[in-house]
Parts: sequence; structure tokens; C-alpha cells
Amino acid sequence: MSEDHMKSLHGRSGNEAGIYCFMDAVAREAEEYALDHTSPLSELLEEVEDFTLTKTPYPSMLTGRVEGRFLQLVTQLSGARQIVEIGTFTGYSALAMAEALPESGKILTIDNNAGHAKIAQEFFDRSASGFKIDLRLGEALEILKTLPDAETDLVFIDADKRNYGAYYEESMRILRNGGLILADNALWYGRIFDPKDEDSRAMADFNELVKADKMAEKLFLTIRDGIYLIRKRVNVE
Ligand SMILES: C[S@@+](CC[C@H](N)C(=O)[O-])C[C@H]1O[C@@H](n2cnc3c(N)ncnc32)[C@H](O)[C@@H]1O
Repeated sequence: MSEDHMKSLHGRSGNEAGIYCFMDAVAREAEEYALDHTSPLSELLEEVEDFTLTKTPYPSMLTGRVEGRFLQLVTQLSGARQIVEIGTFTGYSALAMAEALPESGKILTIDNNAGHAKIAQEFFDRSASGFKIDLRLGEALEILKTLPDAETDLVFIDADKRNYGAYYEESMRILRNGGLILADNALWYGRIFDPKDEDSRAMADFNELVKADKMAEKLFLTIRDGIYLIRKRVNVE
């Protein structure tokens, strides 16, 4: 990370700091340390990050460097070819995974916000990996329901929290055996421990749904705002 970039991140406060002060349950210092000890992504992704943090009202929705690098590693290590992403926003996570995919790989990324989709598409068009990304504007659940059974290798769930349970059921249907789900915001800023609003209850319920599912092997990761990593079982034991 360049000194200027680091300074610009550390200099921000409150909502402006976006992903770098996203919850009380994880020490900000550890988050910053992880950020500083993680390889930067491409120049274009750094630009998407800067754009999102400075020019959009929702900087905290960005996955950012640490999670972006993690998504890239999972993409590479799993050998995924067909990825579905629920929640594009400014395109950061889709582009991160696209850069890690082989030439024959494809990502279908879905967002229901035309403004977000326009921004993301402009970044995809500037990327050498952009041709791997098919951005669809619409309701994620409706689009997911049109996808075939058992042909997807990896699903990244990162959209409206109230639908996480439904996204999970559809994701398990479209995943091949051994395929992976990465569900972002599984800690939901620590609010899952004592859920008081609908989104928090939805995330707590989602985590219990996954925990109880015999078709899923699971690993709850405390990276950033929590990532629930789920593998669709080949055989139920
Ligand atoms: C947390 S952001 C996604 C962040 C993105 N994955 C990234 O790393 O930068 C969530 C996105 O989901 C979209 N979204 C929310 N509800 C949706 C729905 N029902 N269908 C499709 N997209 C939805 C929002 O417009 C928003 O852009």
C-alpha cells in the first residue's frame, strides 16, 4: 500500500471510513494490520475501492482488499469456472474474482440497482478480465430461480440480508456437489449475538439454517464482517 493510500484510509473517520471501522466486535487495529499485510490487488481494483470510498454514500458495502484477496484465493484454489454473485454494487468483488478466474471462467453477477450496475459495468468494460462478467440487473431471487440445477461452482452472497435464507436454498440447488458458498456479513456487525431488528434476525436465522443443514460442510470465518464458508456435501453422512 502506498503511503498516500494508507494515509487516506487512516485519515477517514465515521461513515467516511467505510469498511475500515465497520463494527465494534472486531478490533479496528487488527483490521488495519491485516490490510497492511495483505498484497494489494490490481490498479483498477484500487481505483474501484477509492471511487467507492469517496464517491458513493455506502462505502461500507465494499468488500475491500482483505476479502477481495480471499475471494481470489478461494476462486483459484477451488478451480471454480462458473461463479454466481448476488450483489454487485460497484463491481469490486466480481472484478476481484474475475481476475482470478481462467479465461474460460464466467461470473454472473446480479444487482437490482441500476445506478450501481452502471458504475460496475463501466469498471468491467475497462478490465482485461471484464469479458468474463455477465452483469444482470434485476431481483436476485427471480434471476437465481432461472438458473439450472448443479452447474455452478461457487456462489458469493452479498446482498439484502432478509433474503439470505432464500438465497442459500437457491444457491444449494444451483451448486454442483462439492461447490462452495461464501456468505458475506455473517457477523452482521456483531448484531447477530442479540438481534433487535429484522436484518439482524435474518442474519442470525441464516447462520442457524446453515449450521443445521446436513447437506453443508461449514466454516465460520471471522474475516472482516464474517464470512460463512459452506461446501455442498457430495454425500450426506
Ligand atoms: C453489500 S453490496 C455488494 C458489495 C459487492 N459484493 C462488493 O464487494 O463491492 C449489496 C448490493 O446488493 C444489491 N441488492 C440489494 N438487494 C437486492 C436484491 N433483492 N436483488 C439484487 N440485488 C440486490 C444492492 O443494490 C447492493 O449493490
